[in-house]
Amino acid sequence: MDLKLSSLLCFTLLLSSTIFIPALSELCNPQDKKVLLEIKAALNNPYILISWNPDVDCCTTWNNVECDPTTNRITSLTVFGDNRLTGQIPAQVGDLPYLETLVLRKLPNLTGPIQPSIAKLKHLKWLRLSWNGLSGSVPGFLSQLKNLTFLELNFNNLTGSIPSSLSQLPNLASLRLDRNKLTGHIPSSFGQFVGVVPDLYLSHNQLTGKIPTSLGKMDFNRIDLSRNQLEGDASFLFGLNKTTEILDLSRNILEFDLSKVEFTKSLISLDLNHNMLTGSIPDELTQVKLQFFNVSYNRLCGQIPVGGKLQSFDNTSYFHNQCLCGTPLPSCK
Ligand SMILES: *[C@@H]1O[C@H](CO)[C@@H](O)[C@H](O)[C@H]1NC(C)=O
Ligand SMILES: *[C@@H]1O[C@H](CO)[C@@H](O)[C@H](O)[C@H]1NC(C)=O
Ligand SMILES: *[C@@H]1O[C@H](CO)[C@@H](O)[C@H](O)[C@H]1NC(C)=O
Ligand SMILES: *[C@@H]1O[C@H](CO)[C@@H](O)[C@H](O)[C@H]1NC(C)=O
Ligand SMILES: *[C@@H]1O[C@H](CO)[C@@H](O)[C@H](O)[C@H]1NC(C)=O
Ligand SMILES: *[C@@H]1O[C@H](CO)[C@@H](O)[C@H](O)[C@H]1NC(C)=O
Repeated sequence: MDLKLSSLLCFTLLLSSTIFIPALSELCNPQDKKVLLEIKAALNNPYILISWNPDVDCCTTWNNVECDPTTNRITSLTVFGDNRLTGQIPAQVGDLPYLETLVLRKLPNLTGPIQPSIAKLKHLKWLRLSWNGLSGSVPGFLSQLKNLTFLELNFNNLTGSIPSSLSQLPNLASLRLDRNKLTGHIPSSFGQFVGVVPDLYLSHNQLTGKIPTSLGKMDFNRIDLSRNQLEGDASFLFGLNKTTEILDLSRNILEFDLSKVEFTKSLISLDLNHNMLTGSIPDELTQVKLQFFNVSYNRLCGQIPVGGKLQSFDNTSYFHNQCLCGTPLPSCK
């Protein structure tokens, strides 16, 4: 084909596709489009949603949304990082019935409660509402969303206690409620997750009381309970047959004898600083390939065992104990 003819053909194709195809190829479900435009209006038409032009196809042209490739229903709504977006989570999010992913993150002026209409989103797998200004409680209705896999409500102003029913979520892989103002006890039901054992992040809250011993039955891969007011024993979280990699209990008022704890070799990071631990550091810890270790500000005594990684940490991992000694602290008398 000669160049002229082919470029003419190209031009014609381009022209016809711009003029005729869009109306025919509007993939967006009209009801979903209507709901999305209501959401945009409810959020005061934020600049971040400027691509949501009613005259073009939401599936192929809009940012922040994704459609299912066969049904063309909206499956994902993601808005991230904009402090000019102000308001509350619009009730209309509950009217996107095929939503699997709802991400509203790093929107500091997104305030108000976790919208109750989210209860209608039965297909939801990812609910990430972190780093906003949300307030109110962690709603119990979340436990009805059986496909929820990632539930992240961290870095908000949530208050009240943790609903024990969250343990009923069979597909939960990660539960992040850290950095809120949650009070009350850790539910004992968190020792009976019905499905996989999720990574559990409850740090930086105002949780009180004892850690339920039922949690000892779970094999958490990552568990962070730091910076609460948890008291009493936590030795049951350890054990030779766990596969825990990251365990952070720092800055609580926990009180147990570290000498009696058995450490799994899977541990990579262990933070116990600022508690009331007694006893000494067991020799077995030299067998664990720790990358992070901190037992400072406790009531430990005796010689720091020599070997493994234990001398690779600086003295701040050990300082402010009752009578710990030996490298990297001053030698024992
Ligand atoms: C949004 O939040 C920031 C702080 O994160 C604040 O400085 C700003 O004034 C807020 N904007 C509006 C419109 O409220
Ligand atoms: C939950 O997920 C499974 C597997 O991905 C799927 O078969 C099922 O239809 C989902 N249920 C809902 C309500 O989305
Ligand atoms: C939480 O609420 C306090 C006032 O109670 C406010 O000063 C703070 O900015 C809020 N934090 C967030 C992340 O919105
Ligand atoms: C090790 O795990 C088994 C089953 O998972 C459990 O019955 C047993 O009590 C555990 N042993 C210890 C020392 O935790
Ligand atoms: C251990 O924790 C203490 C108290 O928070 C801190 O001052 C110190 O820097 C930490 N050291 C390491 C190595 O993390
Ligand atoms: C920790 O080490 C620094 C130097 O690395 C030293 O100045 C300091 O006195 C030591 N502190 C303790 C408690 O051993």
